This record gives sequence, C-alpha cells and structure tokens, in this order.
Amino acid sequence: MFRSLLANNARYLSSAFVAGEPAGPEVKTAIPGPRSLAMLAEMKTIQISDAVQLFADYSKSIGNYLYDVDGNILLDVYTQISSVPLGYNHPELLDVLQDKENIRTFINRPALGVFPGENYPQRVYNSLLRVAPKGHTEVTTMACGSCSNENAYKAIFVWYRRKQRGDAPYTPEEETSCVMNQSPGVSDLTLLSFKGAFHGRTFGTLITTHTKPVHKLDIPTMDWPIGTFPRYKYPLEDFVRENEEEDRRCLAEVEELFERYNKRGKNVAGVVIEPIQSEGGDHHASPAFFQQLQRIAKKNGAALLIDEVQTGGGTTGEFWCHDHFNLEHPVDIVTYSKKMLVGGYFSLPEFRPREGYRIFNTWMGEPSKVVLLEKVIDVIKRDKLIENVKVTGDILLNGLKAFGKRYPNLVKNVRGRGTFCAFDCDSMAKRDQLVEQLKVEGVQTGGAGPVAVRLRPSLVFQPHHAAIFLDRLEKALHKMDNKV
Ligand SMILES: Cc1ncc(COP(=O)(O)O)c(C=O)c1O
Repeated sequence: MFRSLLANNARYLSSAFVAGEPAGPEVKTAIPGPRSLAMLAEMKTIQISDAVQLFADYSKSIGNYLYDVDGNILLDVYTQISSVPLGYNHPELLDVLQDKENIRTFINRPALGVFPGENYPQRVYNSLLRVAPKGHTEVTTMACGSCSNENAYKAIFVWYRRKQRGDAPYTPEEETSCVMNQSPGVSDLTLLSFKGAFHGRTFGTLITTHTKPVHKLDIPTMDWPIGTFPRYKYPLEDFVRENEEEDRRCLAEVEELFERYNKRGKNVAGVVIEPIQSEGGDHHASPAFFQQLQRIAKKNGAALLIDEVQTGGGTTGEFWCHDHFNLEHPVDIVTYSKKMLVGGYFSLPEFRPREGYRIFNTWMGEPSKVVLLEKVIDVIKRDKLIENVKVTGDILLNGLKAFGKRYPNLVKNVRGRGTFCAFDCDSMAKRDQLVEQLKVEGVQTGGAGPVAVRLRPSLVFQPHHAAIFLDRLEKALHKMDNKV
C-alpha cells in the first residue's frame, strides 16, 4: 500500500530535503539505554529530571533522525515537542553560523527593548514580518511560548482599560493603588479560556491552562471564565449534524459566560484559544466555530487571541493554522514560539500600549534566533515545504485511517491538518504502551491529553518518512494487538 503512495508523490521523493539521513531507524538497546540511564542518574543529583526520556547526541542527529547517546537512531515524529522546523543540523542553518557577520549576533545578547543592534529591525522584517498573519504589520518578540501569551494578555488588559477610560490619563489614585495590588489601579478584568486548553505554565498563563492537575496543584489562581471547546465525533463526515450541534452548544456557553462575568463587573476583555487544542489531546474545531467565536468577541468588545505556539510555522499545511478558518477579520493577537525559534506575538496597532516598559523584559527575544529564522523562512519558501506538508500529511492521514479499520481499539478518531495528526487509543494505558512500543520500533512520538498519540514531525518530513513511520506503526500495532 505504501509503495503506491510513494509512487504517486514522486516530486517529493526526487531528493531528500536534508542530505546525509540514514536509510531508516536503528534500535540497538532498550530506550533509555545504559548510557542514557547513567547520565540520568547523574542529572538527578542536580535537578528534577523525571520527564527525561533519553539523552540525545545532537552532533550526529540529522534531518528527521534523532540519535541518542547509546547509538540508537529514532525517526523523530515529535521533534522536541513540535519545535524543530527543518530537522536536525540542516546544512544551511549550520552555514549561518559560519558567516562572520552573524557570529557577533550570537555572542552579544542585547536587552532588545533598550539597545537593539543596528540591523535588528531589518532582520525582524525579513523573518517574522515576512510571514505575518493576514492584516498584521506589528510584532513583538519574547523568549518562549508562555511569556508570549503572558505579555499578550497584558496587552489585551491595557487595551481594554484604555477603551473603558475613554483615553483619559491615569489618576494619581490609580497610580498609588496599583503598586499595592489594590483597585482602582489594578483591574478586575478576565480572559475567557477553554476546558482542555494549554497556554503555558507561568503564573498568568496558568490561569488559562486546563489540561493536567500536575500543572496547577497548589498554585493560586483567578476565577476567570472557562468555556467548553468542542469535542467532535469522528469520522467528521458521518457526524455532521452532531458536530454542528456541538459547535452551537459551546458557542451558546461562551455567550452566557460573557453575560455572567460582565454582569458581575468582571468584564471579559478577551478570549484566548488554540486553533487545535494540542497538549489537551489534539481537539479540532470547525472554521464555522472560530468564525462565530470571533463575532461573539467583537460584539462584546473583547479581543480574540489565537495561540499558534504549537500550530504555527507551516505544520498544518498553512503557515498559520487559523488561515484554514476563513475568518471575517484579522485576528487581534496571534502568539507564536516553537517552530518560529523565538517567541512573541503579532498584534493589531490598537493593542500597542502608549507607554514604553508596559510590555518589556530584559531580553525580549533573542536576535540570533531571528537570524536563524530568516534562513528557515527562506528554505520553507524555496523548498515549498508547506506543499510538502500537505502531500505528506495526506499520506499520514490515509494510512492512519486504514489502521483505524484494522485496529479499532488502538487507532480511533483519526484527525489532522497537514502533518499535525493524531489518533486516540481506547485507554491511557494502551496509548502509553503504544508510544513505548513505537520507540522499540525506532520511532519517537508523543502523547497528548489522556488517550491521544500526536504526530509533530518537522517540515522536512517527506512521503518516504511517512511510509517508514506507517510501516513501523503497523509493526507496533500488530504486536500490541496480539497481546491484548
Ligand atoms: C499552544 C501552546 N501555548 C503555549 C505553550 C507554552 O510554550 P512554552 O513551553 O514555550 O512556554 C505551549 C507549549 O507546549 C503550547 O502548546
């Protein structure tokens, strides 16, 4: 079956996007192997390391293959939690470091909000603004996904309060009360987020993260509205009516939450949402859902923030996942990080605070990452990598759907956009077992939510990699099926 898929996509087979990849995965030891385990024991003496899966050899890792310190070679369909755009050690990114002009950018890390280098605006223009979401001409850089959201939330609150004040200056009472955490200087505003959402683990973003108890236990938080993100039935074509009803139910709840919180004086200043709920289990919502959500936010004078930290950068078959939604208006704020190498947010001009230092920290991003991003975007465009994602994504989805028929307990609810694909097992135990079994077969994937396996390959994951993945997955499913 996979051979014919390959033959139909010869264009993406003619050459590998990254030279020097091995022919396929190779597993020599248990994973983690003895060297990884020894290193882990050492690391545990200095920090919490319970999430460590293996120690990697980044000098050998290449393209879609992650080498570990025990000599195992894994086909990487997870890519550092979806954050490697061009695979490992892409030759053109290595070349960026050979350029003497760039070396100084790597050594001197400025406080970008105060002392940016002379070519910095041009660099940002050549990278981030070249791929700005529709309607956007302004961008702010930050260091990671959480702090991108954290600062975007602040921009929303400042924007909302300015509208409420009618542009009047701050009163002396506001200025003295805010530094003591008291009103009227601090506000009672809220942001609406969704059950199952993940927007980060920092103090502010955590208020809007609702995935696992481990992130939230013991941490003080705020009573902000939490809506319901749709949970669809699959295959979508068999459940059109039920899924439309699910959209209506969730949107009605959003309307009700706006009313309830606004009435209590805890005005909802914005709505924050992932275009595909990722950490929470790869939950999708329809374009119609997002279109209507944007209308509801606008009607209530609230901002819409789309968190593209995990979905941005081309992996869904569009540069920004929300490009699939055909929205009526540009999105107010779009946050990014991961595959973009640097964090931050695009925002419409009205979200720019009037005073400096309102959105600020020492580093505000990292210029060397912006230099690398410039090259990444050149390569994405030149090698037509988004086209590659679409072709490869179709192969992945069709392959997964075929397995769904043969292994209905292990491959359910197949879904995806581009190569951003997932499926569910019928229990968490089976999902965890499958992720482990895939490692034995030489494939690194990851879980999402309670029962999903998520695929997050880089943009240079081609049809022949998809065929290798499906072949290994078939072996893993077969072994598990014979055990259950
Ligand atoms: C949608 C989304 N937003 C925010 C974050 C937080 O990003 P970071 O881990 O870089 O802080 C993540 C991380 O997985 C994410 O998936």
